[in-house]
Amino acid sequence: MSEEAKAYVAGIFDRAAGDYEQVGVDFFGPVGARLALHAQPGERVLDVGCGRGASLFPAAERVGPTGFVHGVDLAPGMVREAGAELERRGVTNARVTLGDAESLDFPDESFDAVQSGLVIFFVPDMPQAAREIARVLRPGGRLALATFAEDREEDQTLQATLRNLLTPYLPPPPPTA
Ligand SMILES: C[S@@+](CC[C@H](N)C(=O)[O-])C[C@H]1O[C@@H](n2cnc3c(N)ncnc32)[C@H](O)[C@@H]1O
Repeated sequence: MSEEAKAYVAGIFDRAAGDYEQVGVDFFGPVGARLALHAQPGERVLDVGCGRGASLFPAAERVGPTGFVHGVDLAPGMVREAGAELERRGVTNARVTLGDAESLDFPDESFDAVQSGLVIFFVPDMPQAAREIARVLRPGGRLALATFAEDREEDQTLQATLRNLLTPYLPPPPPTA
């Protein structure tokens, strides 16, 4: 079930990757920039579900040349687009690879901070993602998360905006016999 759910989510974001952030909404950028404010010069930061890099690019700027940001995303299209943008901007202290929040392909205690913007609610096994994040963080490391608060009207509007935005990329319904 979990693998099926993840394939479904990866498919949506793979199809959305080409248009993502070019569709007339401007909350990914501001949310990403705010999320990255935790990052300090010289730190090793992991961006889980980095998408096209809304928080990865500002974090790379903040950690500077002595730090490093590694972005992982489940959708190959996002990895491709973010990688191309890294190259286009000439960013050398960040990279993006395919990866799953539930099974992070990094050694224990390899990051000073993990950040993840508007991702966690797409992960079928959130406790497993939390365990993986804790595992790759050094003792005393930090987690910065951006998610929606159910009791804030503004957040509900943002959540509805994200849902509407993704609707065109849902898989077509199965053919009826
Ligand atoms: C709403 S987008 C946010 C992207 C980016 N963090 C931003 O703020 O623009 C959610 C992203 O999470 C990724 N994602 C969903 N489930 C994931 C998982 N299990 N592991 C890694 N990435 C995942 C999607 O492919 C998508 O790129």
